[in-house]
Amino acid sequence: MKFGYGKLFIGYGILLMILFQGCQDTINIPTDPDNDLTSIPYNPVLYQPIIPVGFPAMEQPAENLMTNAGIQLGRKLFYDPILSVDSSVSCASCHLPELSFTDGLSRSQGVNGTTARGAMSLLDAGFHNIRFFWDGRAATLEEQAHLPVEDPIEMGEMWPEVEAKLKAHPTYPSDFRKAFGIESKTMINKDLATKAIAQFERSIVSSGKSRYDRFVRGEIFLEDNEYTGYLMYFNFDQSLPDAQCGHCHNAPLFGGEDFLNNGLQASPDLISFADKGLGMVTGNISDNGKFKVPSLRNIALTAPFMHTGQFATLEEVIEHYDSGGLDSPNKSSLLQPLHLTESQKSDLLAFILTLTDTTILTNPDYQNPF
Ligand code: HEC
Ligand code: HEC
Repeated sequence: MKFGYGKLFIGYGILLMILFQGCQDTINIPTDPDNDLTSIPYNPVLYQPIIPVGFPAMEQPAENLMTNAGIQLGRKLFYDPILSVDSSVSCASCHLPELSFTDGLSRSQGVNGTTARGAMSLLDAGFHNIRFFWDGRAATLEEQAHLPVEDPIEMGEMWPEVEAKLKAHPTYPSDFRKAFGIESKTMINKDLATKAIAQFERSIVSSGKSRYDRFVRGEIFLEDNEYTGYLMYFNFDQSLPDAQCGHCHNAPLFGGEDFLNNGLQASPDLISFADKGLGMVTGNISDNGKFKVPSLRNIALTAPFMHTGQFATLEEVIEHYDSGGLDSPNKSSLLQPLHLTESQKSDLLAFILTLTDTTILTNPDYQNPF
């Protein structure tokens, strides 16, 4: 008997839930006076990123200029796991400030398994105006920020669901009002959310306090081994081998400006690359096997290395370049055996370690706001 009633209750429960959800769907949100946000002041204050001496100006899209409120909203969204299907993963799960916005893994862990490539640092991303992702499949930071949410491995959510969660949230509607001047909760949408995230990302800028930057400004000398590495990196001394690095990871950004093949995958032709990289996006076979040249700023903090995460240490990376890499028809001609001595390899390593900027790791403006 008892069991029978129990079943009946569950039956009624489910029926009620269905009815309730049915009602929720039919509520006409736009007529709800609770949606009105106009009583919240909208006074946007434009934000100018503090850019180190020698850096280029940051180009901000005219339709998404940075404001204090926009950056604050973007930072909250960046750290908020409600962007994922089960509230377990935020952007910051794979882009941790203490690892220069990477995650220390060769492949990232999302809501549903492991990503195909390793996470990328976001430091100075606002200067990398070429394209985003290892294969360049997003043209802008705004466009990029749309993709992780609906990526089945990374966050596994759908934007309409995220929009509903943000509209119903106790504080986000007023944050969106302050950032974008929207008049009603119903105006919250994915385009504003991704604009805010992009603003936050553009605020993540090198501080100019790395040993390299202080050396370039004439504030400090480098150690002898760092200086020898510097000369080889940029080929500034013809009596030393040209390590070629500066041709692709050039100052002041040290990367983010090109897509090239640095000999990670052997391929007899242009079509047999296991990961086609840029070629998948452009459809041009001469782009197959080319990947974004990442910045080497803070490279000491972002192991393991390459889109594959195949090198655990920078020593292994330098061995790779010293060997000239694996052959394929579009391997860059700059990848040739370097014949560096052991001490030259360690000088080169000492130099790239001068690119470490620890201030951004602890900058309170980039930390979790919750
Ligand atoms: C599950 C881990 C994971 C999550 C969650 C994640 N990312 Fe990423 N991110 C990655 C990986 C992996 C890549 C490289 C993927 C590729 O190139 O195929 C990447 C690349 C990027 C890039 C490209 C950087 C460049 O220089 O080209 C940006 C920007 C970025 N992510 C921002 C975000 C934002 C914003 C969010 C949240 C909306 C987010 N990521 C969520 C793992 C993640
Ligand atoms: C032909 C251009 C080119 C040259 C020359 C070059 N690189 Fe790279 N570098 C790249 C590309 C492209 C990648 C990304 C490859 C990938 O993951 O598919 C990369 C990746 C790296 C990475 C890993 C970055 C990360 O975020 O995982 C390091 C470290 C690095 N290079 C250091 C160097 C050093 C040191 C030199 C000089 C010895 C050098 N590179 C020379 C193009 C180049």
